Amino acid sequence: MASIDFYHHLLLSLALLLLLPTACQARDTVTPGRPLGANETLVSGGDASFVLGFFTPPGGNGTYLGVWYSKVSVRTVVWVANRERPIPGHVADNLGRATLSVSATGTLSIVNAAGNNNSRHVVVWSVTPASRLASPTAKILDNGNLVLADGNGVAAWQGFDHPTDTLLPDMKLGIDYVTGRNRTLTAWKSPSDPSPGPVVMAMDTSGDPQVFIWNGGEKVWRSGPWDGVQFTGVPDTVTYSGFTFSFVNDAREVTYSFHVHRESIISRLGLNSTGNYGLLQRSTWVESAGTWNLYWYAPKDQCDAVSPCGPNGVCDTNNLPVCSCLRGFSPRSPAAWALRDGRDGCVRTTPLDCRNGSTGAGDDGFVAVRHAKVPDTARSVVDRGLSLEQCREACLGNCSCTAYASANVVGGDRRGTGSGCVMWNSGLTDLRVYPDFGQDLFVRLAAADLGLSSKSRKGSTIIIIAVAASISALAFLLALAGFLVCARKKKRSRKTGSSKWSGSSRSNARRYEGSSHGEDLELPIFDLGTIAAATDGFSINNKLGEGGFGPVYKGKLEDGQEIAVKTLSKTSVQGLDEFKNEVMLIAKLQHRNLVRLLGYSISGQERILVYEYMENKSLDYFLFEKSNSILLDWQLRYRIVEGIARGLLYLHQDSRYRIIHRDMKASNVLLDKEMTPKISDFGLARMFGSEETEINTRKVVGTYGYMSPEYAMDGVFSVKSDVFSFGVLLLEIISGRKNRGVYSYSNHLNLLGHAWSLWNECKGIELADETMNGSFNSDEVLKCIRVGLLCVQENPDDRPLMSQVLLMLSATDPDTLPTPRQPGFAARRILTETDTTSSKPDCSIFDSSTVTILEGR
Ligand SMILES: *[C@@H]1O[C@H](CO)[C@@H](O)[C@H](O)[C@H]1NC(C)=O
Ligand SMILES: *[C@@H]1O[C@H](CO)[C@@H](O)[C@H](O)[C@H]1NC(C)=O
Ligand SMILES: *[C@@H]1O[C@H](CO)[C@@H](O)[C@H](O)[C@H]1NC(C)=O
Ligand SMILES: *[C@@H]1O[C@H](CO)[C@@H](O)[C@H](O)[C@H]1NC(C)=O
Ligand SMILES: *[C@@H]1O[C@H](CO)[C@@H](O)[C@H](O)[C@H]1NC(C)=O
Ligand SMILES: *[C@@H]1O[C@H](CO)[C@@H](O)[C@H](O)[C@H]1NC(C)=O
Ligand SMILES: *[C@@H]1O[C@H](CO)[C@@H](O)[C@H](O)[C@H]1NC(C)=O
Repeated sequence: MASIDFYHHLLLSLALLLLLPTACQARDTVTPGRPLGANETLVSGGDASFVLGFFTPPGGNGTYLGVWYSKVSVRTVVWVANRERPIPGHVADNLGRATLSVSATGTLSIVNAAGNNNSRHVVVWSVTPASRLASPTAKILDNGNLVLADGNGVAAWQGFDHPTDTLLPDMKLGIDYVTGRNRTLTAWKSPSDPSPGPVVMAMDTSGDPQVFIWNGGEKVWRSGPWDGVQFTGVPDTVTYSGFTFSFVNDAREVTYSFHVHRESIISRLGLNSTGNYGLLQRSTWVESAGTWNLYWYAPKDQCDAVSPCGPNGVCDTNNLPVCSCLRGFSPRSPAAWALRDGRDGCVRTTPLDCRNGSTGAGDDGFVAVRHAKVPDTARSVVDRGLSLEQCREACLGNCSCTAYASANVVGGDRRGTGSGCVMWNSGLTDLRVYPDFGQDLFVRLAAADLGLSSKSRKGSTIIIIAVAASISALAFLLALAGFLVCARKKKRSRKTGSSKWSGSSRSNARRYEGSSHGEDLELPIFDLGTIAAATDGFSINNKLGEGGFGPVYKGKLEDGQEIAVKTLSKTSVQGLDEFKNEVMLIAKLQHRNLVRLLGYSISGQERILVYEYMENKSLDYFLFEKSNSILLDWQLRYRIVEGIARGLLYLHQDSRYRIIHRDMKASNVLLDKEMTPKISDFGLARMFGSEETEINTRKVVGTYGYMSPEYAMDGVFSVKSDVFSFGVLLLEIISGRKNRGVYSYSNHLNLLGHAWSLWNECKGIELADETMNGSFNSDEVLKCIRVGLLCVQENPDDRPLMSQVLLMLSATDPDTLPTPRQPGFAARRILTETDTTSSKPDCSIFDSSTVTILEGR
């Protein structure tokens, strides 16, 4: 008995002994009596997020003092003290030499005890507070800030005031006028060398403040001014969930910073001289994948370069060539322009009227450029007190004013308008337009270039719009008249299609000739006549069904191609331009597992999308009807699952536009004649309810049973909401049952709850659809159930990304997959509650960019 006790004791003390050094290491301060050696580290006190210590970068040969994440398994250094003066040699060889110490008066220094040459200590880095500190300490805080403070905790110096290459949450970039500090980021020379490289990011406070990135002294990226919500050149910031971005511009400071609301989000903005994806990268740590997930980066495309199209040029990546001149301007060097070098920019075709001795503003007016990243504001004048209308007057009243825009889009009647006034006094450089987001810019033109017969002083743009509107109305009336006449006359001859107005399907489809900056769009416009002919006048016999946006018809073009015609009536609140933009966007999304858009048609309020026709209808038709589900053997089901996952992955991270589908469900998965699954209705979400572009929306739309809890409850959506819907769909495909179906065994459970309880009782295989008659590979089925359960976990952070889903689906050893936790909405009761709080499930809105590219793909 006693001896056992003794051994117990011994073991305990041994354990304690083993633990002791770790306990000692987990300190967070350096004090005069207690320097930090290279053999130890400081760990921030609260949640142990950050570590301060000496390190040698991989492949490097110097020893540096730095801060890195403690919870990120890939060592990621976010701050370096002595980046310009390393202690020579690898940290392993400097264990006894390198120290960080605080003197009794508060000087913080890194000392190299010079190795064998012990004659003297070399100080490689130090900070000395302006005045002596009483009982000084240096402490690493939970946000990664190294702070030197006196005994009362009054900070005398902090690392956050001296950023290196990384902006952490709550760290500020920009100018502090009180201290005169100019906080900038400077990239490492290379991943093995933290010394300052040529890539620098800083706030430029001339004119309306903007952030620039320089590479070797040359401007390579411009953020554009802050529009009250975001930088105009980072237009998708508004869609970030869990972040707050702030910009302070007052007498004390001009700074930018971001804040992360959830502790689980580890996010950084890093400046890189070597990254494959742009110089500035926002990435977020994905614990389950063990990688940094690249969220956003810049410069991203041709138009992100500084002024690729010169003064008065417009850059648009959706055009080819990307450069065009603003309306009323023509290329300064047509030869260079023809060779696709736009840097010389454009010159005004007609001088402004006010320059020609006219009294006042003459007949000048403005043309609006929508979705703009506004031009360089370095020399612009800002007046935040003006309204947009006053801004217009002010611009008209000053002959040197060339354009104006609102300074703050908050409270605007729609995105792009708002309050405050930015006025440009010279050429408009570095202007680009986006497919969506962006701001309205109003460019001043002489009356002649506005297309007005002069003498109509005010509201020139309005008149242009009105004229355009009446022309299209007229065109529509003509088309309609033609259609009615022909519909009556040529009931028979339709299919051979000889009428003048109907063009001949795709070959004759007109191209949309651009607006102010001349887009050249590839997508055919069908005229209403062609479509009417193809669908026998939208005959009820050709109706395939009623989509969330309106009826869907089957049709056949003259060349024999079968089409699906989707009418988007009434629900759309979008303008014509926005609609066209969205259509262009959708048309650019092309993937084997997405339904292809063939063209579109606009007539009055009616908007029509023409898709390829899918012979085998939709997945729900096969899945939920017993007579059909027999046709779906396991192999086919598995292939369908993979196809859907690929399509979704493409939408989420491979396409240029980062689409969140928001309405993934069996009826939105169409099947072609080879039973290849094709996701439909993607991107449609973007077309509706443009006022709801915020990531946090009160009005939740989507389809019950497929909606993730955070979306249904809080209106928060992200790619992880799609992952949830995918998980539901996956479980439906396995079981052949609807998530909302009622189960005789356990009435209070929906499919998720049912799958979860079977899984926990190790009876997962019972979930498999009985129409498969047991002929399947049960390991594969179990793996799929597991993946499905992982996708429907309550906490979005626990759910995998689609890239991970695909990896898991192809994993051969199911034991390498994580263990799922309780699904969201497992109990039916919760579902019923949310049922009542939501509107009719039909459409969903818009994308976001919560996740873009997974590194290493
Ligand atoms: C150590 O680093 C210095 C400076 O970066 C470099 O010039 C030198 O070649 C490196 N030495 C070795 C052995 O890698
Ligand atoms: C680190 O090294 C110093 C000096 O060589 C020594 O005094 C200290 O005990 C060491 N600390 C640990 C935790 O090994
Ligand atoms: C000792 O260090 C000093 C200064 O760094 C240097 O000049 C001297 O050559 C070193 N002596 C030896 C023996 O390495
Ligand atoms: C801050 O530093 C950057 C980069 O060195 C510089 O371009 C900018 O003008 C500085 N700002 C101020 C206000 O000194
Ligand atoms: C720079 O890019 C590399 C490779 O993409 C990445 O591993 C590294 O973390 C990046 N550095 C910063 C500071 O973002
Ligand atoms: C100024 O306006 C007058 C009359 O409208 C016109 O004849 C003349 O050519 C204009 N001058 C310039 C320099 O545009
Ligand atoms: C008006 O024009 C002058 C140059 O003629 C310029 O200096 C001034 O900033 C302009 N004022 C505004 C409000 O644009």
